[in-house]
Amino acid sequence: MKPDSYYITTPIYYVNDRPHIGHAYTTVLADVLARCQRLFGHDTWFLTGTDEHGQKVQEAAAKLGIDPQLHADNTVVRFQEAWKRLGIRNDDFIRTTQPRHKAIVQEILQDLYDRGEVYRDEYDGWYCVPCERFFTEKDLVNGNCPDCGRPVQRVREANYFFKMSQYQDWLVEYIQSHPGFIQPDFRRNETLGFLRKPLQDLCISRPKSRLSWGIELPFDKDYVTYVWFDALVNYISAIGYRRDDAAFARWWPAIHLIGKDILTTHTVYWPCMLKAMGLPMPRTVFAHGWWMMGSAKMSKSLGNVVNPMDLMERYGVDPFRYFLMAEMVLGQDASFTEEAFIRRYNADLANDLGNLLNRVVSMVGKYCGGRLPAPQAGAFVAGPAAELFKQVAEAAAGLKASVEHFTLSAGIAQVIEAVRATNRFLETQQPWTQARAADPGPLHTTLYAAAESLRVCAGLLMPLMPGKMAELRAALGMENAMTVNPEELTKSEVLNPGVPVAAPGALFPRIEAPVPEAGEKPAPAAEAKAEKKAPPPGTIGNPEGIITYDDFAKVQLRTAKIMSAEAIEGAVKLLKLSVLMGEERRQIVAGIALYYKPEELIGKTVVVVSNLAPIKLRGVESQGMLLAASKGERLRLVTVDGDLSSGAVVK
Ligand code: MSP
Repeated sequence: MKPDSYYITTPIYYVNDRPHIGHAYTTVLADVLARCQRLFGHDTWFLTGTDEHGQKVQEAAAKLGIDPQLHADNTVVRFQEAWKRLGIRNDDFIRTTQPRHKAIVQEILQDLYDRGEVYRDEYDGWYCVPCERFFTEKDLVNGNCPDCGRPVQRVREANYFFKMSQYQDWLVEYIQSHPGFIQPDFRRNETLGFLRKPLQDLCISRPKSRLSWGIELPFDKDYVTYVWFDALVNYISAIGYRRDDAAFARWWPAIHLIGKDILTTHTVYWPCMLKAMGLPMPRTVFAHGWWMMGSAKMSKSLGNVVNPMDLMERYGVDPFRYFLMAEMVLGQDASFTEEAFIRRYNADLANDLGNLLNRVVSMVGKYCGGRLPAPQAGAFVAGPAAELFKQVAEAAAGLKASVEHFTLSAGIAQVIEAVRATNRFLETQQPWTQARAADPGPLHTTLYAAAESLRVCAGLLMPLMPGKMAELRAALGMENAMTVNPEELTKSEVLNPGVPVAAPGALFPRIEAPVPEAGEKPAPAAEAKAEKKAPPPGTIGNPEGIITYDDFAKVQLRTAKIMSAEAIEGAVKLLKLSVLMGEERRQIVAGIALYYKPEELIGKTVVVVSNLAPIKLRGVESQGMLLAASKGERLRLVTVDGDLSSGAVVK
């Protein structure tokens, strides 16, 4: 891969699923990252597609009494149409039933077989039909599948195995010496944890007598290929592996975006397969968190019972894309509610961005006859306009860094902060007062500088909201409003004075929160408003420090069990903890070493702020914060009264 080229992939989705928030999220994320890379001038390729073989497709087709290929052809359009509606601009869409893919899988298998990397053996063990995976006796949990919890079948049959076990030591060493390979860091630790157990060889075949819907093994026509071995190959078959060396060299290795549930296949099976093929490892495998909509969090009275895809229809595709990207701290779980959507939409898009455009357009209309005024000479060299533009240019650098480091929500927040700074700039410059002065120069500079800032912010947000941001830039009189030139993001005085400035209407009309039905408890946002009017006792006339329910609701608190604790060299007050929050393992650095010995902490169920952006303390990453009460010399951790499994929501 050339240093400035960028190949990004999503998982390929099971073709018979209906597209849901999980699929939509990864695909929008890949689309936004790809659009950002293009914006920064990099050669970019974005691949998505569908996983079309395996038991589930065979069974679904059998139920309908149709051929599995026909079933896949019928259902793949759901994804293709959903991606069109979501504004996804992928460069390719691979289907694992396409000849271009099947041929490559077979060639790879034949090559591995010829070189003794694949061998035949008798298999005797447990098989989970829905997961299509084999397990040893030790893997089972209460006799059931460790992944889905369903009953498993005893299977004794001849199969083909890939000698994955021989790569265990190499893989551990590779992961340890390439910190960027598996991201975020706590997922790398999860894979290394998995690799502490002996790695088994991978069964890569299924006898046709049990499953016929798959790619036939080239060296034994009685077997088809295990669906994961087939599916993972899509990442290279799509870009010309063994067919088009130039294309392959241009793009490989990839950045794979995946959900946290498919970490092992992508960070253990896939690297071993690539190693056996003699290919370089993926540049990064980034595992994002899950969108939570557990029934506990859905309640009619909160007005958050919602199908996320409906939300897109109701409020528009661009705000929906913006919400997904701005709300989820990459790597961590996030909660999806209509209320959270409306809150963020109103705060960032209606109040900050949309309002700024309104103000600029209406003042240019009122004071300058609807044409963009020219700034004073030197205004962008020193003074308030130059200061503002500096912050805007820093936001451009911040967004770029956030794309590279997978901290997108932080980059987006920096752009919105630049929008807010522009609104504040208008407050301090007071163009309405400047308009009364004899010299129009300062007024013109103020309005031009605000428009310039908007231009850059809209350019930076273009990958997230291509339609709306093109509208915004067109309102500023830009020709080719849809095309952002990378250089214009850090350059000032790009807008042409004299161009007409006019908005076709409100870009982001404010959404009024859904009104609760009669007899229902008001939504928390409404309660917060009521509380705002009457400050609690003790704060009469001094509401400082009071937060609204909305502010509080941004903090996610969850229970976590402390699994290990250790001192950090050179930091007397800090302990490094490994905690389990539901299924998720996190590393937390806590300033409690003066109050607790590491061994006293193991097994305690504590309360963690789970949606804090990760930070580094003394060079060690902390992915959350423990709650503790302290007074004078004493500090005690907040724990849970009685038995409760980890990962529970604290509210
Ligand atoms: N076909 C395999 C992937 C093969 S890739 C070589 C597969 N498909 S899937 O359709 O079941 O899932 C695709 C992705 O959706 C996974 O990355 C999964 O993590 C993601 N999500 C499913 N539900 C999700 C949420 N609720 N939230 C975020 N993403 C989740 O696995």
